[in-house]
Amino acid sequence: MQIRIRSGGHDYEGLSYISENPFVIVDMRNIRSISIDTEGKTAWVQVGATLGQLYYTIALKSKTLAFTAGVCPTVGVGGHFSGGGYGMMSRKHAIAADNVIDAKLINANGQVLDRDSMGEDLFWAIRGGGGTSFGIVLAFKVKLVIVPETVTVFNVSRTLEQNATQLVHKWQYIADRVDENLLLRLFLRSVRSPTNGNRTIRASFTTLFLGRVHDLLPIMQEKFPELALKEQDCIEMSWIESTLFFAGLRNESLHVLLSRTPQTGIYFKGKSDYVRQPISIQGLRRIWRFLNEEDENRAGLQFSPYGGVLNTLSESETPFPHRSGNIFMIHYGISWTKDGSTESERHINWIRRFYTFMAPYVSKYPRAAYYNYRDLDIGRNNEENTSYKQASVWGFKYFKNNFNRLVRVKNQVDPSNFFRNEQSIPPLS
Ligand code: FDA
Repeated sequence: MQIRIRSGGHDYEGLSYISENPFVIVDMRNIRSISIDTEGKTAWVQVGATLGQLYYTIALKSKTLAFTAGVCPTVGVGGHFSGGGYGMMSRKHAIAADNVIDAKLINANGQVLDRDSMGEDLFWAIRGGGGTSFGIVLAFKVKLVIVPETVTVFNVSRTLEQNATQLVHKWQYIADRVDENLLLRLFLRSVRSPTNGNRTIRASFTTLFLGRVHDLLPIMQEKFPELALKEQDCIEMSWIESTLFFAGLRNESLHVLLSRTPQTGIYFKGKSDYVRQPISIQGLRRIWRFLNEEDENRAGLQFSPYGGVLNTLSESETPFPHRSGNIFMIHYGISWTKDGSTESERHINWIRRFYTFMAPYVSKYPRAAYYNYRDLDIGRNNEENTSYKQASVWGFKYFKNNFNRLVRVKNQVDPSNFFRNEQSIPPLS
């Protein structure tokens, strides 16, 4: 029997709760207590906690402490920290895994280890080397980050008729270079134009600035005047309120962060890429055409800027290797509601064609991908004896050269491959 470990259950391919082989689920959802040490600026977080619960609990204790991790409050700490954890403060405070300073893990022999007893190699591997492969993580100890009492957010949208192509083009030249307190994330969707009813692309610049609006406006004026950001587009709020804003829950009370109910009734496929050279205007126009092939409001791209502190960490600091040289990460997503294999096939074929079409615009050798946006299309292990060769197909994309070190650690701590799934790190033989 295989062991499937589930914390928040948000794995894109459902690897925490489905398998073609006989399996049992180790469900961590009730192991979710959080203790905050405001003096030491640290927290112990059990893996069944959600990001929303973590943010809420920190905010109960302090207005100026926070944590750097993803946007969706129902995502689980267990899978998210194990695979990286990019969020709206990542240009300033890196990703969740970079801020893990201790952990508790059950290994394949059933021993409970902490950082001291597991040793630095295994501790390195579980901070971004992906869930499942090395054992069951029970809890992570993290460094909290300091945020100002007031931060500024905005979400400004422009369609093609409002110059979106030129704006997206210019964005690529500033997004990874601006002040690291500023993270301008870009969401692109094919929608119907409010003016003429035709299909168009809507580019939404969704932004967090770790500071006040009067400090933000001069930066935007200097670096990105084309967006014509106005003071009235910006809203000042606390960091915890900004987590609601980015989750699309702005008018809800903070308690909504404790809900574990994810969006239901939606079928979804996601993929990822890294961009190292700006895409030309002509390239962007070809991308818009591809987006417009899909049903309105169903297909979306997220461009998440890198740079800032992510540039200062080496590729081998943690297994997450996406550091200097990346301008932004692309997240491709397509969602649909109708059941049925023909409908699913149509959308999945579309996103696969899109991914093939994007090859000239994105990173090469390897074509890098983000582990937390799990995608079995980029390769999977053999059913029984996972070979190094087979796993290298997807392994170098997620981890670059860190893949080899992950294999060595796996060899040391779980040579019989007790913990495995379709994209787990294989031992050498
Ligand atoms: P889940 O429980 O499904 O686990 C994911 C993987 O980790 C599985 O292989 C599982 O077996 C393993 N695992 C889980 N718990 C473990 C444990 N305790 N010990 C060992 N292995 C364990 N990412 C991001 O970086 N930024 C973002 O903003 C978002 N936003 C987002 C929104 C939505 C709606 C979804 C569905 C996903 C995201 N993600 C994301 C991706 C997310 O980070 C990724 O899916 C995480 O793996 C989810 O962690 P869960 O614990 O919820 O998943």
